[in-house]
Amino acid sequence: MSALAGKRALVCGASGGIGRATALAFAEAGAQVIGLARSADKLETLRAAGIEPLVADLQDRAGLAAALEPWLDQPIHILVNNTGGPKGGRLLDTDASDFLAPFERHVLAAHQLVRALVPGMQAAGYGRILNVVSTSVYEPIPNLGVSNTIRAAVAGWAKSLSRELPPGVTINNVLPGFTDTPRLEALGAARAGRDGSSLDEVQAAWMKDVPEGRLVRPEETAAMLLFLASPAAAMVRGQSIAVDGGRLRSI
Ligand SMILES: NC(=O)c1ccc[n+]([C@@H]2O[C@H](COP(=O)([O-])OP(=O)(O)OC[C@H]3O[C@@H](n4cnc5c(N)ncnc54)[C@H](OP(=O)(O)O)[C@@H]3O)[C@@H](O)[C@H]2O)c1
Repeated sequence: MSALAGKRALVCGASGGIGRATALAFAEAGAQVIGLARSADKLETLRAAGIEPLVADLQDRAGLAAALEPWLDQPIHILVNNTGGPKGGRLLDTDASDFLAPFERHVLAAHQLVRALVPGMQAAGYGRILNVVSTSVYEPIPNLGVSNTIRAAVAGWAKSLSRELPPGVTINNVLPGFTDTPRLEALGAARAGRDGSSLDEVQAAWMKDVPEGRLVRPEETAAMLLFLASPAAAMVRGQSIAVDGGRLRSI
């Protein structure tokens, strides 16, 4: 499939989980892919698929600008904003300062990247900005208070941008449900530790609320991102689309 032939894509959080699967899917679809993350060694493993590494920390705005600079000589048509999720916990146990780092990497880094890349997208007449967020945009998730707060901010930012971006440059959110990645394993292990249960028991409890009855594979989330990145999705704009096996109850 060559749905992204001739396109350049910057995929953030490409060293693992959903970002890695997305970088691979985009490369398979013919895009020239730049994979961004902090772990140089994990990014190197993507070179075999033609994915070029960009080592940067989304919590370091000056470092991000410097690392991105050499890649801006040609338009980057597709931007996937994706990074590590905030730590779990009750809001009443959360210090105000604990919001700063996740706000920096989820909202401010995404905003910085959009402002750097949109001129090139506009000049090329083609732009796709995709944000990997969470189903908590629609239904806040217990014990993920910081995440619920930050995801709502991302959704409001993206919807606002969807009214400002020029024709041909769209923005959309993909909302993963329980997806089989290192992030979910860490959340499951923390929950098991708190409850005195096993990881299998935690996952079985989660699956009771998922009509499809299994974890989402990262490749399935990447498939939605691939569609939204493609020319076929030209009229999909400002939407938040869940890939969650039916877990969301709201319409
Ligand atoms: N998995 C799920 O069930 C699920 C459900 C709902 C929402 N989500 C959300 O979807 C997003 C992706 O999830 P995932 O499960 O794929 O996460 P993951 O397995 O933890 O992967 C996160 C990726 O982001 C990169 N990253 C983290 N902090 C970074 C930073 N400061 N600068 C640059 N890169 C950074 C990591 O690479 P380095 O460590 O190499 O930098 C890694 O490549 C997260 O926001 C997550 O909360 C996931």
